[in-house]
Amino acid sequence: MRIIPHIDDLRAQLSGQNRIAFVPTMGNLHEGHLSLMRLAAQHGDPVVASIFVNRLQFGPNEDFDKYPRTFENDAAKLESEKVYALFAPTEKDLYPEPQTYRIQPPTQLGDILEGEFRPGFFQGVCTVVLKLFSCVQPRVAVFGKKDYQQLMIIRAMCRQLALPVEIIAAETVRDEDGLALSSRNQYLSAEDRATAPQLYAQLQSVRAQILADRVHAATQLLSIEQGAMSALTNNGWKPDYIAVRRQDDLLQPTVDEVKAGVALVILAAARIGTTRLIDNLEV
Ligand code: PAJ
Repeated sequence: MRIIPHIDDLRAQLSGQNRIAFVPTMGNLHEGHLSLMRLAAQHGDPVVASIFVNRLQFGPNEDFDKYPRTFENDAAKLESEKVYALFAPTEKDLYPEPQTYRIQPPTQLGDILEGEFRPGFFQGVCTVVLKLFSCVQPRVAVFGKKDYQQLMIIRAMCRQLALPVEIIAAETVRDEDGLALSSRNQYLSAEDRATAPQLYAQLQSVRAQILADRVHAATQLLSIEQGAMSALTNNGWKPDYIAVRRQDDLLQPTVDEVKAGVALVILAAARIGTTRLIDNLEV
């Protein structure tokens, strides 16, 4: 595997390739990331990964400086996968001048849920992903369903800007107790780590309530959501949201749509101790 920090070198090394499968990451790689590399290998060749902790997507009070940087370990893990090249630009490489051109996602997708609690987050994500696409020029790119709204927003960006990149969704990889793997899990104290699976358990409970009686649930979504939030609060969590949405556009479903069996996804974000976790579950 070649490690390439500069955009010029990347272009030179990838010139002539038209089936590139790309997996962008911020590093601190775990099995979730590695599953994306394997999925990428099924959809294209060569596989190119990137590691770049993108300042633009961190809010002023978020953990940019604290974000775990474990480059040597990450590179060793990618070496064991079928990754041909690792694009690992410095900030100077990717943002040699202030990045004043930005991609602004539409309000109805970018300012809800995560976007409401992390203003500017999806603008930062879209801007860096478009720029990474421009550097790597992949035919396909793989994103995890773990970050469901991010996946939707990148898909919509590619559609609206007619980018020649097919977006592939990867299933969420979990620990045995259900906790979705995340770089932020390592911030959890032992006690909070033991509590953390409750987030996924609440998502499962909401899904079970919907599947048990869709007709009843259709008029009760708000109280089902609030019940799940209260259960978390009672166990020491500070939930930002638990929301049942349409899979297609993340908007609220109507009563009739729920009754008719429209595809739903339950999305959640909550803080346990000082760590903010997100998760989701399709219905
Ligand atoms: P990062 O958090 O490093 O995640 C990189 C990719 O791994 C994302 O597509 C994410 O959804 C996926 N991923 C994370 N945890 C996963 C899990 N448990 N199972 C499956 N996939 C998982 O997401 C980002 O970086 C950044 O926003 C980025 C897109 C790189 C732009 O900076």
